[in-house]
Amino acid sequence: MRKARDQDGPVGTPTAPHPVLKKYYESEDARHGFVTALFDGTARHYDWVCGVGSLGSGQFYRRWVLRHYGFGSGMRLLDVATGTGLVARAAVRILGEDGAVIGLDPSGGMLREARKTLSVPLVQGRVEELPFGDDHFDFLSMGYALRHMADLKVALRECRRILKPSGRLLLLEISRPRSAVARWLIRVYFQKVLPLVARLGTGSAQAELLMRYYWDTIAECVPPETILGVLRAGGFVDVGHRVRGGLLSEYVGVKPAR
Ligand SMILES: C[S@@+](CC[C@H](N)C(=O)[O-])C[C@H]1O[C@@H](n2cnc3c(N)ncnc32)[C@H](O)[C@@H]1O
Repeated sequence: MRKARDQDGPVGTPTAPHPVLKKYYESEDARHGFVTALFDGTARHYDWVCGVGSLGSGQFYRRWVLRHYGFGSGMRLLDVATGTGLVARAAVRILGEDGAVIGLDPSGGMLREARKTLSVPLVQGRVEELPFGDDHFDFLSMGYALRHMADLKVALRECRRILKPSGRLLLLEISRPRSAVARWLIRVYFQKVLPLVARLGTGSAQAELLMRYYWDTIAECVPPETILGVLRAGGFVDVGHRVRGGLLSEYVGVKPAR
């Protein structure tokens, strides 16, 4: 893969969001193929599983959080790792029209599902090599996908490149709760309850695997301090991190004005 265009010199040592998970794939090089096949294979179940997993609150939250961080009319948004288009749909609802929203994802299966509910342009591609010119978007969103990137430095620098000066990046993630009791509860929910519910509700072994993988990537993910450090080193300013309910992580960064 080519290195992202980088105004600050060499990209340097890669920062993977989590170590190789040998239970699922053998080496770093095999990660992307595994992840894309997993999302291709579970795309038609994704919205159902997400709806159940978030107890029905996921779409309300995506709309709310976009507005909270300043997304609104007159802005052009790229939803990176759009999947079935859940964040893009929230953005279209805020704007009341779909002309200013684009979704991007490497999984053809996820994009096919997205096309069923969205009429915005959907582009097949990866965050590490975004097919857009510099200074193009006012707002970039990336929902629950940071854990799937090959190299956080490359991904986030590429995001900065295509943002307009003063444009904003919003990353949504799930993080491990700090309290031991909450961490135990969440682990049981993600590791035991959700995979079982996904299997019973969809009849798909792949959907069960997706939920198992989901938890393992959360459990192994680098800490928030590392993500904040990569955002700052990648040239973002006004970098911030907020956790809601001990679980919902929101990272923001702004591309400096000229
Ligand atoms: C958990 S889904 C998130 C979907 C949606 N953003 C949401 O809010 O639910 C993760 C998505 O990240 C995508 N993805 C994985 N690797 C990626 C990469 N390198 N670049 C962009 N997207 C990637 C997957 O194909 C998948 O659709």
